[in-house]
Amino acid sequence: MNNIGRNLVNFKGYNFRYNFDKARIENADNFEIREDDVFVITYPKSGTIWMQQILSLIYFEGHRNRTENVDTIDRVPFFEYSYRGTDIENRPSPRLFASHLPYYLAPKGLKNKKAKVIYVYRNPKDVLVSMLHFINLINPHEPINTIEHFLEKFLDGNGNYDNLLRIPASLWFDHIRGWYEHRHDFNILFQMYEQMKKDLRGSVLQISRFLGKELSEEDVDDIVNQATFENMKSIPQANYAHVLSQLRIPSHKEGLHMRKGTIGDWKHHLTVAQNEKFDRMFQTKMKDFPLKFIWDING
Ligand code: A3P
Repeated sequence: MNNIGRNLVNFKGYNFRYNFDKARIENADNFEIREDDVFVITYPKSGTIWMQQILSLIYFEGHRNRTENVDTIDRVPFFEYSYRGTDIENRPSPRLFASHLPYYLAPKGLKNKKAKVIYVYRNPKDVLVSMLHFINLINPHEPINTIEHFLEKFLDGNGNYDNLLRIPASLWFDHIRGWYEHRHDFNILFQMYEQMKKDLRGSVLQISRFLGKELSEEDVDDIVNQATFENMKSIPQANYAHVLSQLRIPSHKEGLHMRKGTIGDWKHHLTVAQNEKFDRMFQTKMKDFPLKFIWDING
């Protein structure tokens, strides 16, 4: 079994991968946040890797002009996992982080409102489908999760992902609601995956404005070009290929993080009845929630 398939650890109400940095989460409130830190926060499968790439391209000239050969995961490492043993704390500023943490486990210092948070969200039907593929790919020798089983877990009111699912997460509804309802505590930009898909250039400009980064037209061109799905899929530094081999995931699974990258793939996977079930839960859980979602390419 590859290491990524090992059991999850539930800690403070959240399911972490077995190798999470427990001490860092326990001491998150003492983690010293710098004013120019930036955190990308996502629910898994919502475009984390994409925003990591965009941020790295915005901040590092050597990435934009390809004079440096550094993996994106090393420029924007995870807060709660030390995949590469990097000393993420003592890096020179500006420090960029990625994280799936729920709002209540985020370092207190983020509430100084100087450090910035970008929350990437995606319509949850596509999140569900992306996640199901991911889980089945990383657990090839175990019973295949059917969409029926997974749907039930995804919508489970208690957020009880069982260990078969192996997704480090809590309930999708709680994650987005938690961050949104506490948005006034943070200096936070809510960035929609589908908006990035529909207008990558406009999204890059919006993100760089939020970060207070001035970019030339040429810089923006370079960022957009290197953040397209096709280009990221073919650049090992951008698509976690090196991390996967480190985790003993076979290289033919490089599509693990870069699968389809589309809007509305759920339509090829959910039956009418499953879709209605999803909609019923969505309407109950997301009642009065102001952020809008785009469910298909024409939406
Ligand atoms: P799919 O499985 O639907 O293709 P995460 O990084 O949070 O795990 O999210 C992975 C999802 O984001 C995958 O979705 C992946 O294809 C998509 N993604 C990553 N980079 C992308 C890009 N440049 N453009 C569009 N989608 C992208």
